[in-house]
Amino acid sequence: MRIAVVIRGIVVLLVSGLTLFIANKWMNSSEKQNNTERLAEPKVKKSLCGADTHCTANHFPFKIISGAANIVGPSICFNDKPLMTSVKNNIGKGLNIALVNASSGNLITTDFFDMWTGNIKLLVDFLHQVKPGTIVLLASFDEPATKLTDEVRTLFSELGSSLVHDVKFRDNWIFVGAKPIKEKSPFEQILKNDRAKNKYGNWPEAVEMEGCIPRKID
Ligand SMILES: *[C@@H]1O[C@H](CO)[C@@H](O)[C@H](O)[C@H]1NC(C)=O
Ligand SMILES: *[C@@H]1O[C@H](CO)[C@@H](O)[C@H](O)[C@H]1NC(C)=O
Ligand SMILES: *[C@@H]1O[C@H](CO)[C@@H](O)[C@H](O)[C@H]1NC(C)=O
Repeated sequence: MRIAVVIRGIVVLLVSGLTLFIANKWMNSSEKQNNTERLAEPKVKKSLCGADTHCTANHFPFKIISGAANIVGPSICFNDKPLMTSVKNNIGKGLNIALVNASSGNLITTDFFDMWTGNIKLLVDFLHQVKPGTIVLLASFDEPATKLTDEVRTLFSELGSSLVHDVKFRDNWIFVGAKPIKEKSPFEQILKNDRAKNKYGNWPEAVEMEGCIPRKID
C-alpha cells in the first residue's frame, strides 16, 4: 500500500515536472518568436534605402536624408540602392549630388562640392555637363550656401528647384530635379537654420524625403 502511494506520488511529480518543462520550453520558444517579431520591425525601418513608399510601374523609388549638423553625413538612395552614403565614403560637406539616367535608372556619376571654402567653378562645370534625360538628386551637409552664386542658383532653378533662392548659411536642403523639366519639382525641402528652433545648436535637424520619380519613356 505504502509503496503504491509512493510510486503514485513519483508519477504525479514526474508528470507535473514534465508539464512544467514542456510549458516552460513552449513559453520560451514563443517568447523568442515574439522577440524576433519585435526586432524584425525596426530592422526593416533602419535599412537605409527601405522606403515606406511603394512605387507603381515606371517609377523609381528614392529616399534622401540631409546631413545632421557637421557630424552625420547625408544619404541618397535611388531605386532601393544607396548611391551616396558615409559607408560608401563618397559624401562630403557642402552639396552632394548624384546623377542618374532617367530612362534606365543607372547611376551616371556622384560628386560633392564644398560650399564653405571650395571653388564654385567646379560646381558650375558639373551642372553645365548634365545631359538631357538625367535625374539630379541632391543632399546638403553642414553648409550649403556660402559659395552659391546667382549663376549656380539659376542652374538649379532650371533643373526644377523653387527653393534654391532661399538656401542660406547652414540651412538643410534636399532636392530632386531633372533635365529637362517643365514644371517645378515637387521633391524639395529646406529646413532653415534658426538658432531659436535648431535641434543641434548651430544647425537645424536633418530633413528627410522619399517618393516616386517617373521614369523617362522614349
Ligand atoms: C526558459 O528561459 C529561462 C529564462 O531565460 C531559462 O532560465 C530556462 O532555462 C529556459 N527554459 C528552457 C526550457 O529553455
Ligand atoms: C506572443 O505574441 C502574441 C501576439 O502578439 C501574443 O498573443 C502572445 O501572448 C505572445 N506570447 C508571449 C510569450 O509573449
Ligand atoms: C540613358 O541610357 C540610355 C540607354 O539605356 C542611353 O541611350 C542614353 O543616352 C542615356 N542617357 C543619359 C543622359 O545618360
